[in-house]
Amino acid sequence: MINKKIEQELNKQLNRELFSAYLYLSMAAYFESENLRGFAHWMKVQAKEEITHAMKFFDYIIERGAKVLLEKIDIPKISWNSVFEVFKDAYEHETKITNFIYEILNLSKNERDYATESFLKWFVEEQVEEEAQTLEIVQKLEKIKDSFTTLLILDHHLGKREE
Ligand SMILES: [Fe+2]
Ligand SMILES: [Fe+2]
Repeated sequence: MINKKIEQELNKQLNRELFSAYLYLSMAAYFESENLRGFAHWMKVQAKEEITHAMKFFDYIIERGAKVLLEKIDIPKISWNSVFEVFKDAYEHETKITNFIYEILNLSKNERDYATESFLKWFVEEQVEEEAQTLEIVQKLEKIKDSFTTLLILDHHLGKREE
């Protein structure tokens, strides 16, 4: 069995991963409306990845004999002023998620829940990757500035992201 506080935090994180999927879908919809189909594709793949993260929490909560409690998912932002702004938001969102993972990790250490501590290690590594890949795009967009042609090249490139 699992500690109540940890059960609650794992459920909150499950909700945050679903919200992440929602946020990235909203970003995908924004890109579709701007005819930037490559960026939209990248965000759709990202949204699917977030669903798999949510499912890892879902399965782990059940495996530990705890209860999955699905809560209301917040409404994500729906419009941005530029591609750069979207990816900057995505990057900032990932750093927030990383901090939440660290908080749950701290809690599981304090509560001597070694199983949860070990479960969360995968997410610590995953967040390094998630932050790095969004930051790389933010930095590229910073260099692109207002060149629409170069933006279309990046759009084409990101459209090739594999699932
Ligand atoms: Fe995630
Ligand atoms: Fe993520």
